[in-house]
Amino acid sequence: MTAADHHRPIVESAPQSAVAQATWRSEDDTAAFARQLAAQPLLANAFITLHGDLGAGKTTLVRHLLRALGVQGRIKSPTYAVVEPHEAPDLHIWHFDFYRFNDPREWEDAGFRDVFASQGLKLAEWPEKAAALIPAADVAIHIEALDEDARQVTLRAHTPLGLRLLQGLSA
Ligand SMILES: Nc1ncnc2c1ncn2[C@@H]1O[C@H](COP(=O)(O)OP(=O)(O)O)[C@@H](O)[C@H]1O
Ligand SMILES: [Mg+2]
Repeated sequence: MTAADHHRPIVESAPQSAVAQATWRSEDDTAAFARQLAAQPLLANAFITLHGDLGAGKTTLVRHLLRALGVQGRIKSPTYAVVEPHEAPDLHIWHFDFYRFNDPREWEDAGFRDVFASQGLKLAEWPEKAAALIPAADVAIHIEALDEDARQVTLRAHTPLGLRLLQGLSA
Protein backbone atom coordinates (compact mmCIF):
# COMPACT_ATOMS: atom_id res chain seq x y z
CA MET A 1 0.00 0.00 0.00
CA THR A 2 1.39 3.40 -0.95
CA ALA A 3 0.97 6.59 1.06
CA ALA A 4 -1.56 7.78 -1.54
CA ASP A 5 -3.65 4.61 -1.13
CA HIS A 6 -3.66 5.19 2.58
CA HIS A 7 -5.61 8.43 2.15
CA ARG A 8 -8.26 7.04 -0.15
CA PRO A 9 -11.76 7.08 1.32
CA ILE A 10 -12.42 3.49 0.24
CA VAL A 11 -12.53 1.74 3.57
CA GLU A 12 -13.30 -1.72 2.36
CA SER A 13 -12.95 -3.26 -1.04
CA ALA A 14 -13.47 -6.62 -2.70
CA PRO A 15 -13.85 -7.50 -6.41
CA GLN A 16 -17.55 -6.54 -6.50
CA SER A 17 -18.09 -4.40 -3.44
CA ALA A 18 -16.61 -1.23 -2.10
CA VAL A 19 -17.69 1.28 0.46
CA ALA A 20 -16.65 4.89 0.84
CA GLN A 21 -17.67 7.38 3.52
CA ALA A 22 -17.92 11.13 3.39
CA THR A 23 -19.18 13.97 5.56
CA TRP A 24 -20.74 16.99 3.88
CA ARG A 25 -20.61 19.85 6.40
CA SER A 26 -22.83 22.08 4.30
CA GLU A 27 -24.63 22.18 0.98
CA ASP A 28 -21.41 23.61 -0.50
CA ASP A 29 -19.75 20.26 0.27
CA THR A 30 -22.68 18.49 -1.37
CA ALA A 31 -22.21 20.65 -4.47
CA ALA A 32 -18.45 19.98 -4.46
CA PHE A 33 -19.11 16.24 -4.32
CA ALA A 34 -21.60 16.61 -7.20
CA ARG A 35 -18.90 18.31 -9.29
CA GLN A 36 -16.44 15.52 -8.47
CA LEU A 37 -19.00 12.91 -9.48
CA ALA A 38 -19.89 14.80 -12.67
CA ALA A 39 -16.21 14.72 -13.67
CA GLN A 40 -16.20 10.89 -13.79
CA PRO A 41 -16.49 9.68 -17.41
CA LEU A 42 -18.06 6.40 -16.22
CA LEU A 43 -21.03 8.32 -14.87
CA ALA A 44 -22.40 8.64 -18.43
CA ASN A 45 -23.80 5.12 -18.32
CA ALA A 46 -24.29 4.56 -14.61
CA PHE A 47 -27.29 3.77 -12.43
CA ILE A 48 -27.14 5.49 -9.07
CA THR A 49 -29.65 5.06 -6.28
CA LEU A 50 -30.20 7.63 -3.52
CA HIS A 51 -31.27 6.52 -0.07
CA GLY A 52 -32.24 8.44 3.05
CA ASP A 53 -35.19 9.95 4.90
CA LEU A 54 -37.31 12.78 3.50
CA GLY A 55 -35.20 15.93 3.71
CA ALA A 56 -31.89 14.03 3.78
CA GLY A 57 -30.72 15.77 0.61
CA LYS A 58 -31.29 13.27 -2.23
CA THR A 59 -33.00 15.73 -4.56
CA THR A 60 -30.54 18.47 -3.60
CA LEU A 61 -27.61 16.26 -4.59
CA VAL A 62 -29.32 15.40 -7.89
CA ARG A 63 -29.91 19.09 -8.66
CA HIS A 64 -26.26 19.97 -8.00
CA LEU A 65 -25.21 16.99 -10.13
CA LEU A 66 -27.47 18.01 -13.04
CA ARG A 67 -26.06 21.55 -12.93
CA ALA A 68 -22.50 20.22 -12.76
CA LEU A 69 -23.24 18.08 -15.82
CA GLY A 70 -24.39 21.15 -17.71
CA VAL A 71 -28.19 20.88 -17.52
CA GLN A 72 -29.56 24.35 -18.21
CA GLY A 73 -32.78 26.10 -17.29
CA ARG A 74 -35.31 25.20 -14.62
CA ILE A 75 -34.78 21.78 -13.09
CA LYS A 76 -38.10 20.10 -12.40
CA SER A 77 -38.28 17.32 -9.81
CA PRO A 78 -40.15 14.13 -10.68
CA THR A 79 -42.35 13.17 -7.67
CA TYR A 80 -45.69 13.25 -9.55
CA ALA A 81 -44.35 12.05 -12.88
CA VAL A 82 -42.04 9.41 -11.26
CA VAL A 83 -39.39 10.27 -13.83
CA GLU A 84 -38.05 13.54 -15.20
CA PRO A 85 -35.73 13.37 -18.22
CA HIS A 86 -32.89 15.87 -18.63
CA GLU A 87 -30.44 16.60 -21.39
CA ALA A 88 -26.82 17.57 -20.82
CA PRO A 89 -24.19 17.95 -23.54
CA ASP A 90 -23.81 14.41 -25.04
CA LEU A 91 -25.72 12.86 -22.17
CA HIS A 92 -29.26 11.65 -21.48
CA ILE A 93 -30.22 11.72 -17.81
CA TRP A 94 -33.28 10.26 -16.12
CA HIS A 95 -34.14 11.33 -12.60
CA PHE A 96 -36.58 8.91 -10.98
CA ASP A 97 -38.46 9.39 -7.74
CA PHE A 98 -40.34 6.21 -6.89
CA TYR A 99 -41.84 7.63 -3.67
CA ARG A 100 -45.37 7.38 -5.11
CA PHE A 101 -44.76 4.35 -7.29
CA ASN A 102 -47.26 1.66 -6.34
CA ASP A 103 -48.41 -0.10 -9.49
CA PRO A 104 -45.83 -2.53 -10.92
CA ARG A 105 -47.63 -2.43 -14.29
CA GLU A 106 -46.44 1.17 -14.58
CA TRP A 107 -42.90 -0.18 -15.00
CA GLU A 108 -43.72 -1.64 -18.41
CA ASP A 109 -46.41 0.89 -19.35
CA ALA A 110 -44.18 3.90 -18.77
CA GLY A 111 -41.29 2.27 -20.61
CA PHE A 112 -38.92 2.15 -17.64
CA ARG A 113 -37.51 -1.17 -18.85
CA ASP A 114 -36.40 0.58 -22.04
CA VAL A 115 -34.92 3.49 -20.11
CA PHE A 116 -32.75 1.18 -18.03
CA ALA A 117 -31.67 -0.67 -21.15
CA SER A 118 -30.60 2.51 -22.93
CA GLN A 119 -27.47 4.64 -22.77
CA GLY A 120 -27.46 7.40 -20.20
CA LEU A 121 -27.28 8.27 -16.55
CA LYS A 122 -30.11 7.01 -14.35
CA LEU A 123 -30.64 8.45 -10.87
CA ALA A 124 -33.31 7.07 -8.56
CA GLU A 125 -34.72 8.27 -5.27
CA TRP A 126 -36.74 5.71 -3.26
CA PRO A 127 -35.68 2.69 -5.35
CA GLU A 128 -36.99 0.52 -2.47
CA LYS A 129 -40.53 1.25 -3.73
CA ALA A 130 -39.76 -0.52 -7.02
CA ALA A 131 -37.44 -3.11 -5.53
CA ALA A 132 -38.84 -6.10 -7.45
CA LEU A 133 -38.35 -4.41 -10.82
CA ILE A 134 -35.37 -2.14 -10.55
CA PRO A 135 -31.92 -3.39 -11.61
CA ALA A 136 -28.96 -3.41 -9.23
CA ALA A 137 -27.45 0.02 -8.74
CA ASP A 138 -23.87 0.60 -9.79
CA VAL A 139 -23.51 2.88 -6.78
CA ALA A 140 -25.94 3.37 -3.90
CA ILE A 141 -25.59 6.67 -2.04
CA HIS A 142 -26.96 6.72 1.50
CA ILE A 143 -27.43 10.18 3.00
CA GLU A 144 -28.15 10.79 6.67
CA ALA A 145 -28.80 14.21 8.20
CA LEU A 146 -26.57 14.90 11.21
CA ASP A 147 -28.01 18.38 11.78
CA GLU A 148 -29.50 21.14 9.63
CA ASP A 149 -26.53 21.32 7.24
CA ALA A 150 -24.26 18.35 7.89
CA ARG A 151 -24.75 14.99 6.19
CA GLN A 152 -23.10 11.63 6.77
CA VAL A 153 -22.78 9.82 3.46
CA THR A 154 -22.04 6.22 2.56
CA LEU A 155 -21.35 5.18 -1.02
CA ARG A 156 -21.61 1.51 -1.93
CA ALA A 157 -20.55 0.00 -5.24
CA HIS A 158 -22.55 -3.03 -6.34
CA THR A 159 -21.14 -3.64 -9.83
CA PRO A 160 -17.69 -3.53 -11.45
CA LEU A 161 -18.65 -0.19 -13.05
CA GLY A 162 -19.68 1.14 -9.64
CA LEU A 163 -16.43 -0.01 -8.14
CA ARG A 164 -14.44 1.80 -10.83
CA LEU A 165 -16.57 4.91 -10.28
CA LEU A 166 -15.80 4.92 -6.55
CA GLN A 167 -12.13 4.33 -7.26
CA GLY A 168 -12.19 7.30 -9.66
CA LEU A 169 -13.78 9.47 -6.97
CA SER A 170 -11.13 8.64 -4.44
CA ALA A 171 -8.18 8.83 -6.82
N1 LIG B 1 -25.30 19.38 3.13
C1 LIG B 1 -26.53 19.35 2.58
N2 LIG B 1 -26.77 18.54 1.52
C2 LIG B 1 -27.99 18.49 0.97
N3 LIG B 1 -29.06 19.20 1.39
C3 LIG B 1 -28.87 20.04 2.44
C4 LIG B 1 -27.60 20.14 3.08
N4 LIG B 1 -27.71 21.04 4.08
C5 LIG B 1 -28.96 21.47 4.08
N5 LIG B 1 -29.69 20.88 3.11
C6 LIG B 1 -31.12 21.14 2.86
O1 LIG B 1 -31.83 19.96 3.18
C7 LIG B 1 -32.96 19.84 2.33
C8 LIG B 1 -32.91 18.52 1.60
O2 LIG B 1 -34.11 18.35 0.88
P1 LIG B 1 -34.23 17.36 -0.34
O3 LIG B 1 -33.00 17.41 -1.15
O4 LIG B 1 -35.52 17.64 -1.01
O5 LIG B 1 -34.31 15.95 0.42
P2 LIG B 1 -34.81 14.53 -0.08
O6 LIG B 1 -34.83 14.54 -1.58
O7 LIG B 1 -33.79 13.57 0.48
O8 LIG B 1 -36.16 14.32 0.53
C9 LIG B 1 -32.92 21.00 1.37
O9 LIG B 1 -33.75 22.03 1.88
C10 LIG B 1 -31.45 21.44 1.41
O10 LIG B 1 -31.28 22.82 1.13
MG1 LIG C 1 -36.41 14.03 -2.92
